[in-house]
Amino acid sequence: MSDEQRFFDFLKERIGLDVASVGPAIIERAVRQRCNALYAHSSDEYWQKLQGSRDEQQALIEAVIVPETWFFRYPESFATLVKLAKARLAQIKGMRALRLLSLPCSTGEEPYSIAMALLDGGLAPHQFKVDGLDVSPLSVERARAAVYGKNSFRGQDTEFRERHFVAEGDRYRLSERVREQVRLQVGNVLDPGLLAAEPAFDFVFCRNLLIYFDQATQRQVFEVLKRLTHEEGVLFIGPAEGSLLGRLGMRSIGIPQSFAFSRHSEPEPVPAPVSLPLPLPLPPRHAVPPAPRQRPFTARVAPLPVAASPPPVSDAASLLASIATLANEGKSAEARLACERYLQHHEPVAQVFYWLGLLSDVAGNAMEAQGFYRKALYLEPQHPEALVHLATLLASQGDVAGAQRLQERAARSSRSADSELKR
Ligand SMILES: C[S@@+](CC[C@H](N)C(=O)[O-])C[C@H]1O[C@@H](n2cnc3c(N)ncnc32)[C@H](O)[C@@H]1O
Repeated sequence: MSDEQRFFDFLKERIGLDVASVGPAIIERAVRQRCNALYAHSSDEYWQKLQGSRDEQQALIEAVIVPETWFFRYPESFATLVKLAKARLAQIKGMRALRLLSLPCSTGEEPYSIAMALLDGGLAPHQFKVDGLDVSPLSVERARAAVYGKNSFRGQDTEFRERHFVAEGDRYRLSERVREQVRLQVGNVLDPGLLAAEPAFDFVFCRNLLIYFDQATQRQVFEVLKRLTHEEGVLFIGPAEGSLLGRLGMRSIGIPQSFAFSRHSEPEPVPAPVSLPLPLPLPPRHAVPPAPRQRPFTARVAPLPVAASPPPVSDAASLLASIATLANEGKSAEARLACERYLQHHEPVAQVFYWLGLLSDVAGNAMEAQGFYRKALYLEPQHPEALVHLATLLASQGDVAGAQRLQERAARSSRSADSELKR
């Protein structure tokens, strides 16, 4: 066993972290950092200290986790949540409060975004409750404090900050009204008894966690998520995690950019059948679409626009839209074909290379993904998603400095977009 392998195994067992997903450099750096903090002269000495101290075990976990998050990350998913939540409330005739879960919640931006979106969408405080869990006690503590710096506000639309925060120097304190909607606690998604005494949740957010696990752990976590999600519930995941869920038997609900999946695995188009605006060679099972069977919950969601007939290939905008639809539904092969078709018929644009990057990323081809993200950035140096995804990819390969540069560039670009808007 190499010196490092025991640390890799320890972290895999405790939090599911897969060294192949994040790259050894991140773990090695964390171990070095903890060795220095404890004045350990060798990794053997540190290993002994680690074995003997639960606090040190937690400290190593804190040193290695990626708490990267911000308010309203993937904004479309929150708009979708509001629609689905209203539909769900109507379905249960308002007999109880909706139950929502953010796991992992990191420093709280995600569960608080859920609460702000629902309050702003017109739900009354008694109509929903959000639970936020994370394996990192430090992150949960920060979430409870609910005071945030600029890095937590990265989108172009920061109007919500005026409504729900009070400025304190260069930081922002979240209002009591939003905080009261969210209950925060420490929890490990690998714990088989996690929230076992709780009823299932109507909406579960599990975003940007599965990407750090190997396939066996992903399956294990998926079972936990399934148990936690109500039969009629919806699971929101991160953009790179969609095809994974498809493979594990969940279905995209078909709303672009929302990365939302229903527990039902039967081939059922929801909320309305989406005709693909593309003359793509689909596999035979798509040749005759199954008659739409609508469930009451999803039937209330505003239907997606349905194209009456496929538009001409020359229509670049609809081709781009169809790439997004296909990719978000986890139809990776079709999405890739659509990208190729786009590049054959139109001037190259950053967005298509971004999608190709994401599709390669999802397929586990990191090198290819990197190449596509770089092409996107060549064409559009401040393309926000390409910046963020390439940064994540570099970080996962141990290029922390490269990742940081891109993150700073992304933050700069969203800041300058903000000031553009304010002018
Ligand atoms: C990148 S953040 C994601 C936060 C948020 N969901 C988002 O998408 O913005 C990943 C979080 O996963 C947490 N985490 C890692 N392993 C975990 C586990 N086994 N159980 C629960 N949380 C875990 C980390 O502490 C970190 O806060």
